[in-house]
Amino acid sequence: MLDAMDQGNRYSFTEMNEMKALLAQKEGVTPDHILLGAGSGELLCLAGLGVGLEGGAVTSAFPVFRQLMEYAQKFNARWDKANLDDYLVHDLEGLASAVKADTKILFLVNPNNPTGTVLDPAKLKSFCLEMSKKTTVYSDEANSGRNGKEGIPDSYLGLPWQRMVPCEHWHTG
Ligand SMILES: Cc1ncc(COP(=O)(O)O)c(C=O)c1O
Repeated sequence: MLDAMDQGNRYSFTEMNEMKALLAQKEGVTPDHILLGAGSGELLCLAGLGVGLEGGAVTSAFPVFRQLMEYAQKFNARWDKANLDDYLVHDLEGLASAVKADTKILFLVNPNNPTGTVLDPAKLKSFCLEMSKKTTVYSDEANSGRNGKEGIPDSYLGLPWQRMVPCEHWHTG
């Protein structure tokens, strides 16, 4: 980071492409599957905007990190919610039944913010596989690749990329 510091005021097109290539290689996809943003918030807003412009709904647990849904609602999309269970974990059955014919995105947050609860990786994977037959599954994961906690999936390899949007973001400090 120190070496890169004096380049920080430059446009980073070359570095962005290098970063995309590295991430694509790690995830076993082509670079055009990778979208980088100025923070994952930018990508959440874009996805919310997309749902609004297409018309339809986004489904998520409640409460969760709400940036995508709030943006979608501003563009007249509907937000369908499934309450967290008694342990403040995503209720997968509740979420499945909250997905409707016009649901454009099923939004998951793992670990969840604001509750910090984590989904069982095997259950999460089979849930994503099942739900991605019905809608696009957007999975928002903070620091998943490097927080070292057992049980948090590092990658979504093997899931259908046409209908899955794994979104990783890393917080420093
Ligand atoms: C679950 C979750 N998603 C997305 C964000 C947005 O993060 P950033 O835009 O800083 O990458 C946060 C920030 O706290 C978060 O907790």
